[in-house]
Amino acid sequence: MNFHVLTLFPEMVESGLHTSILKRAMDRDLIHLSCINIRDYTENRHGRVDDYTYGGGAGMLMQAQPVFDACEAVQKSLPAPARVVYLTPQGALFTQEMAADFAKEEDLILLCGHYEGIDERALEAIHAEVVSVGDYVLTGGELPAMIVVDAVSRLVPGVLGNDESAETDSFQNGLLEYPQYSRPESWQGRDVPEVLLSGDHKKVSEWRLAQSLARTRERRPDLYEAYLEKMRQTPMTPAEKRRFARILRESEE
Ligand code: ADE
Repeated sequence: MNFHVLTLFPEMVESGLHTSILKRAMDRDLIHLSCINIRDYTENRHGRVDDYTYGGGAGMLMQAQPVFDACEAVQKSLPAPARVVYLTPQGALFTQEMAADFAKEEDLILLCGHYEGIDERALEAIHAEVVSVGDYVLTGGELPAMIVVDAVSRLVPGVLGNDESAETDSFQNGLLEYPQYSRPESWQGRDVPEVLLSGDHKKVSEWRLAQSLARTRERRPDLYEAYLEKMRQTPMTPAEKRRFARILRESEE
């Protein structure tokens, strides 16, 4: 999969993503990252890419021309038109589901804004989808673009090794991950929960589900309610229903 990041700070995105798992994935040609400097496309002879906003108000806006031309140049280099994602706090909240949807693409263009944002006409002309990484305001779209590249890349087949891939399972069933423990069995007087040492796989998976339920209820009541609703809609045999009710009770203890 190919990510094309349009930004005024290409070195920030490059350096942030060329480490660890993503670096390995790039070295193996599973993903490819190209960062395009929007400033290289300005027709302004002083290299300017921003100007004051019509109607007044504080701050500068990125102008339509360099943004549009940079995006067009990328689109023209591709075999088929790619989706364009503009990172902005005004966008729809980025979710695991969105990441999975983007991971189906061969090419994805990510557009990073700066200053007060980008002239609306450029966003219309390039048919940008708008995505936010959270309800807070950052100084630019570079960190959000890096978040999207990371979350999408780990869903590209082969990017995660077998040891790493299990991580997705918990979020993908709509619950938060259960607590995990490694050696030693006892550390600073704190013991690993007994059941995890039992070797009883059924008991372990029921304990983990109960822990996930408790944690999600406590930390993310919104996800918890959605999960219960999903379970109510899921056809279950009487035995399955009793089992789920028992685990749910255990999660409340
Ligand atoms: N740019 C600035 N803040 C942002 C946010 N929260 N999400 C996406 N892009 C942004």
